[in-house]
Amino acid sequence: MIGIFDSGVGGLSVFREIRKLLPQESYIYYSDNAHCPYGEKTREYITDRARYITRELLSKGADIIVVACNTATAAAIATLRAEFPDIRFIGMEPAIKPAALSTRTGVIGVLATAGTLKADKYLLNRGRWAENVRIVEHVGKGFVELVESGDTCSESAEKTVRESLEPLLDEGADKIVLGCTHYPFLSGTIRKVAQELYPERDVEIIDPAPAVARHLVEVMEAEGLMKEEDQAYSISLLSSGDDSCLKETYKRLL
Ligand code: DGL
Repeated sequence: MIGIFDSGVGGLSVFREIRKLLPQESYIYYSDNAHCPYGEKTREYITDRARYITRELLSKGADIIVVACNTATAAAIATLRAEFPDIRFIGMEPAIKPAALSTRTGVIGVLATAGTLKADKYLLNRGRWAENVRIVEHVGKGFVELVESGDTCSESAEKTVRESLEPLLDEGADKIVLGCTHYPFLSGTIRKVAQELYPERDVEIIDPAPAVARHLVEVMEAEGLMKEEDQAYSISLLSSGDDSCLKETYKRLL
């Protein structure tokens, strides 16, 4: 069984991609929405939550865990791997590489949480590419709250998106890397705002979820974790707070 967690519904954007490749697998998804957002919390706080959720998922039968949250990956995945050495953890990372390899303007924009942008893991990843391209960043201010409240395309969602996106586009970015798993739910609005602000630029939005899903399949094959095809499968949704947004978003998406 595949365990997946995030601070909220964001990880469902990763679950959606995984499910396309592995429709017959069993899943358990944990939304930590009672403690959402993670973006501004300390590394210790997030690590404690990640540890707790990992135990929950393992106790319910997960045998591999997807940390479907960039902030939790940056803060806690090394600790999780050290403390649960028999379990494979698959994490998230802003997809700077494909953006850097395909930019035409030589500028890529990264939207992520404050926690992700200041983490060593991110700075290391960024450092590998910063010589060849200019990388500009912005916190997606208010994005997580929009997605958790189910508001992804209203006028006020557009205004919120514009405030964080415009500075990146003004710097010349033609690739927008989504460094938070909540942000793909705002892709339509991000695209619309980019189109309005820079209609001639053909801005591309890059979400790492499909690549993460492919990586998960490779790891599961290598570790012999794939389920036999004819076995029954199940999907459980858990949350630490009110689960209405999780159920709603799940229904809409999958
Ligand atoms: N979805 C998360 C991420 O990928 C965390 C957002 C938050 O809770 O601030 O970073």
